[in-house]
Amino acid sequence: MQVCTTIADARKALEGAEHPIGAVLTMGALHEGHLTLVRKAREECGTVVASIYVNPTQFGDQSDLAAYPRGIQEDLCVLREEGVDVVFIPTDAEMYPPGFDTWVEPGKVAEPLEGVHRPGHFKGVCTVVLKLFNTLRPDKSYFGQKDAQQIMVIRQMAEDLALGVDVIAVPTTRERDGLALSSRNAKLDFAERQTAPVLYRALCLAQELALRGQRDAEIVRTAMRECISGESLASIDYVSVADAKTLEELTTIDTPALVSIAVSIGTTRLIDNVLLG
Ligand code: PAJ
Repeated sequence: MQVCTTIADARKALEGAEHPIGAVLTMGALHEGHLTLVRKAREECGTVVASIYVNPTQFGDQSDLAAYPRGIQEDLCVLREEGVDVVFIPTDAEMYPPGFDTWVEPGKVAEPLEGVHRPGHFKGVCTVVLKLFNTLRPDKSYFGQKDAQQIMVIRQMAEDLALGVDVIAVPTTRERDGLALSSRNAKLDFAERQTAPVLYRALCLAQELALRGQRDAEIVRTAMRECISGESLASIDYVSVADAKTLEELTTIDTPALVSIAVSIGTTRLIDNVLLG
C-alpha cells in the first residue's frame, strides 16, 4: 500500500493503475461503516484508493473540528488489511494553500436539512470532494447512504460538472441495536450511548407506519418526534419526511421518500435516515 501526502505523489502512484479506479473518501477514525465502502470498492475495482482528510471547510464550528477523532496509524493498518492500493493523506497546506480562492457552490438539494443546520457545510464538502476527485481521478466513488443528502449533493455535482465519476451509494452499517456507525459515536458516554438507538427506533416507526398505510407525512413526523422526546438526553434538530429526489418536505407520502433525522445526544449531533418506497 502506497501512502501519499502530496497531490503530485498521489497522481504518480495512480499512473498506469488498473481501471476501474475506485475511491473511498474519508475523514479517518475509520470504522466498519467506512470499511463496507472499501470492501465494495475492492470487489468492483482494479485499484482502490482511499483518502483521509479532516476537511476544515466543512466544519462550521471550530471546536467540532478540533474535537474530531483522529487515529492515523490505526487507520492505515485497517486499510492495509483491506487490500487498499493507495492512501492519500494530504495536509491542509496541500488542499488549501495560501491564496486558495475557488469554491463549489451546490444548488437546491444542499439547502434543506443539513444545509439549514450547518450553513456552508456542503460548499466545503463539494469543494474538497472535487479537489480529491481531480487528484485521484477515480472511475467510481463510494459513499455511505448514512449521509444521504451528501450523496445527493455530490451526485448532482458529478453530473452538472461532467466529472465522469460514478457515485455509488452503499447501505448504512449499524450496530446490533440499530445505531448507525459514526466516528462521533466514540464521544457518547455510557448513558448517551444507551439513548442513541432512539434515532433508529424513530426511523423504524416511520417505516412501520408507512407500511401500515399511513400516507400523512405530518402524522409520521409527529410520531417520530414523540418517540425521540421520550428520551431526556435527546434533543431534536430536525425530523424530515421528504421527496427522495428533491428533498422537498412531503404532505402526502405518495412518492419515494427519504425519512431523515438529526438529533443531539448530549453534545454529540447524530444523523440517520431510511428510504420509504
Ligand atoms: P466521513 O464522515 O469520514 O465518511 C466517509 C464515508 O463513509 C462517507 O461516504 C460516509 O457516508 C460513509 N459512512 C460513514 N458512516 C457510515 C455507515 N455507518 N455506514 C455506511 N457508510 C458510512 O463523509 C465524509 O467523511 C466527508 O464529508 C467526505 C465525503 C470525506 C468529504 O470530506
